[in-house]
Amino acid sequence: MAVMPIVWAPDPVLKTKCTQVSEINDNILSLMEDMLETMYQAPGIGLAAPQVGVKQRIIVVDCSPKNEAPKPYRMINPELVSVSKELTTQEEGCLSLPGFYAEVTRPAEARVRYTDEKNKQQTIDVDGLLSVCIQHEIDHLNGILFVDHLSSLKRNMILKKMVKAKKEQVH
Ligand code: NI
Repeated sequence: MAVMPIVWAPDPVLKTKCTQVSEINDNILSLMEDMLETMYQAPGIGLAAPQVGVKQRIIVVDCSPKNEAPKPYRMINPELVSVSKELTTQEEGCLSLPGFYAEVTRPAEARVRYTDEKNKQQTIDVDGLLSVCIQHEIDHLNGILFVDHLSSLKRNMILKKMVKAKKEQVH
């Protein structure tokens, strides 16, 4: 396993609609392990493939409480089958926008279908933090960041600061 560099916004790879994974091979399996290691090390609770520069529909998530055993999800081609009418507003952050947080409103519950690392189709019903996290990560696969759910004023303010932060990181 290896920790991968995380792409910071703004970056074209984070605005890309990612492609379906057609075959689960060793490359995909080892990518998911690297993504988990990268996520845990950050630390974060979710990571999508485009955040490590890979334009494929893969996410990893672990929303288990700190004092409990890890519960990693490896999701290939995840999709929202349905979402609740009921909404929830939670503060979100993103490893591609380090240091920035904002309240985002999303459906509270979701039914998610995906292929797991054993090539099995899974359908799960999620709520709470796990629901928010999976929706956030699926957004990434469609080129959508949490700041895209905010007003353009707030979004542009955050992205401007990110441009500055990236410049300072390069120097
Ligand atoms: Ni994110």
